[in-house]
Amino acid sequence: MFDRRNYLLDNVALGMRGKSLLSIHDLSREEVWKIFEVSSKLKEETKTGITHHLLCGKTLAMIFMKPSTRTRVSFEVGMWQLGGYPLFLSSQELQLKRGETPSDTAQVLSRYVNGIMIRTFDQQDVEDLANYGTIPVINGLTDLLHPCQVLADYFTVYEKRGKTKGLKMVYVGDGNNMAHSLMYGGAKVGMHVTIACPPELQPLPEIVEAAREDGKAEGVQIEVTHDPYAAVKGADVIYTDVWASMGQEAETERKTRILKPYQLNEDLVKAAENKDVMVMHCLPAHRGDEITDGVMDGPHSVVFDEAENRLHVQKAILALLMQDKSE
Ligand code: CP
Ligand code: NVA
Repeated sequence: MFDRRNYLLDNVALGMRGKSLLSIHDLSREEVWKIFEVSSKLKEETKTGITHHLLCGKTLAMIFMKPSTRTRVSFEVGMWQLGGYPLFLSSQELQLKRGETPSDTAQVLSRYVNGIMIRTFDQQDVEDLANYGTIPVINGLTDLLHPCQVLADYFTVYEKRGKTKGLKMVYVGDGNNMAHSLMYGGAKVGMHVTIACPPELQPLPEIVEAAREDGKAEGVQIEVTHDPYAAVKGADVIYTDVWASMGQEAETERKTRILKPYQLNEDLVKAAENKDVMVMHCLPAHRGDEITDGVMDGPHSVVFDEAENRLHVQKAILALLMQDKSE
């Protein structure tokens, strides 16, 4: 009943079966490249109309404690394209909202479904689901990290440039979940990462340190700086994100004031002094705040290719983690 594909049957792929994906920090370099290889294959097969029901009969619980467009739709469609069944579970409909613990939820869901994808606030809740459940758990964004987004981002860079090693990623804005995952991801794919942020909104020092440690083997430099114009010089990618993340709505005014000098506009793109510089954004964008219309819709922008790649990369993740052990 299951499609068998050789790209899921080497030692790296087989080693990923049954694992969770909570942070890129936990992945080996080989696992990251395996995700990219499978993403490419699935993307090509999808574009040429070849079906790949790798997860026929499998179910994925998708828990959303925060809103989503891309994550929800790409996981839901991706699971369906893999021949499986996605269950959308919003915070309104779950007992989690009324105080049932993530550990109890994990133990119950493990009896019904084959995998869990969760978007929530606290990274610890995702860790608890993975620790107490017996099925793979995928982090669909927490306040701390957004690994699926960043795997799609570096896959996009790889597709566009044919390599990642030695390239320079500059993230401008809030030192948030995106900044954290971009550092972890850069360390694995050999890309230097500079976070240009206000002193008040720096990424967590323990994550900066862990990413530096991860990147040592590849000679990756991870830097935190405060001057966006100096930072982007020679950048291969300039990346930005919303100024106030989900759950931080009360801070919008303060953050907007502090982050104004970090806007990704035409002048900042010019300051890269690289005619091929790519502009990325995880979306949703607040046009006119962190990014201008001209840059978002301009010749350097790859934001919609990035968004599309969420689908292909997450299908690869689902297939690698949830493929049947008995096959
Ligand atoms: N980038 C991203 O995760 O988008 P959504 O919030 O729409 O899922
Ligand atoms: N930093 C943003 C990312 C959205 C995809 C947030 O957490 O809201």
